Amino acid sequence: ERVVKQKTLVEVMEAAAGFFQAQLDSHAGAAARAYLEGRGLDRAAIERFRLGYAPGFSGGQGLLKQFLLREFPESMLIEAGLVKKPEDGRDSFDYFRDRVMFPILDRAGRVIAFGGRVMGDAKPKYLNSPDTPLFHKGRVLYGLSWARAGVGKGATLVVTEGYMDVIALHRAGFEGAVAPLGTALTEEQLEELWKLTPEPTLCFDGDAAGQRAATRALDRALPLLKAGRSLKFAVLPAGEDPDSLIGRQGTAAMQAVLDGATPFAEVLFTQELAARPIDTPERRADLTHRLNARAAAIADEGLKREYQFFFRNKLYEQGRSQRAASGRRS
Ligand code: UTP
Ligand code: MN
Ligand code: MN
Ligand code: MN
Ligand code: MN
Repeated sequence: ERVVKQKTLVEVMEAAAGFFQAQLDSHAGAAARAYLEGRGLDRAAIERFRLGYAPGFSGGQGLLKQFLLREFPESMLIEAGLVKKPEDGRDSFDYFRDRVMFPILDRAGRVIAFGGRVMGDAKPKYLNSPDTPLFHKGRVLYGLSWARAGVGKGATLVVTEGYMDVIALHRAGFEGAVAPLGTALTEEQLEELWKLTPEPTLCFDGDAAGQRAATRALDRALPLLKAGRSLKFAVLPAGEDPDSLIGRQGTAAMQAVLDGATPFAEVLFTQELAARPIDTPERRADLTHRLNARAAAIADEGLKREYQFFFRNKLYEQGRSQRAASGRRS
């Protein structure tokens, strides 16, 4: 009786990472190599982050055909999210075609999914693996296995938006960089971050989408804050993300952005205060009301009181500086 060793999903993902790496080095990978070079990624970076290329040849069945020859069952390739089977009965095809590939590792460093970027302007710019038994998008952070090591050596845990940001930060020596995978930060990801450090720094893109992402993360994290557990918010110059800032202005500029990160409570206060005059008792009372409502969202009773106290002090300081300003005017 022949013993058939069942291949596991972990094995198929590892094999796929190797396949994409080999494709990048092949004739078919020439454009992808040029793309990566154009983005400032050298051979060492390509190897360190295991970047690859998913080919678009063979009618988009390059991986499927090779892996069938290597005795991976099609059902397993589908389960792994590497191959897609159309509902209408057409032939199955590769999920990733003609894209630069970023392997996504779990906490232990095993490949569990991929992100793939187009080299041109096609949409979507990035495609992520579908959820599989190994991969649940909202639970995973890109770069977590590297950041764990970095944070262990004293690096700041920095949450950015994307693959290229994580890579650029690590290469520049910011070894605590991670990114969610194109979604808002989930509660599970926040819990994962807090396991590593009490106060991770969020550093989203300096554009409207980055602002919205930061606001969403703030709203989601607020109820979960407690003694010794918070977030900081770093603001990038307009139009920059960590990758572009490091490329244009270097490591020192990035360091300055992270050093200038603002504590959670300060960001909340500034948000509520923003562009709203508090020059009458009614307007001040309205602000107090809104600040109390934000503090009330915190589940931890002790911290809720600290936020109320912090906001009262801030309001008092605000009132003093306003009176001083109007005193100077008169
Ligand atoms: P961005 O839109 O900020 O990417 O998306 P970017 O910085 O311009 O990308 P590059 O530098 O041109 O390569 C940030 C992250 O959001 C996710 C990806 O994880 C990406 O890295 N994303 C973005 C998607 O999942 N799908 C998309 O279509 C776009
Ligand atoms: Mn599941
Ligand atoms: Mn962005
Ligand atoms: Mn970018
Ligand atoms: Mn970006």
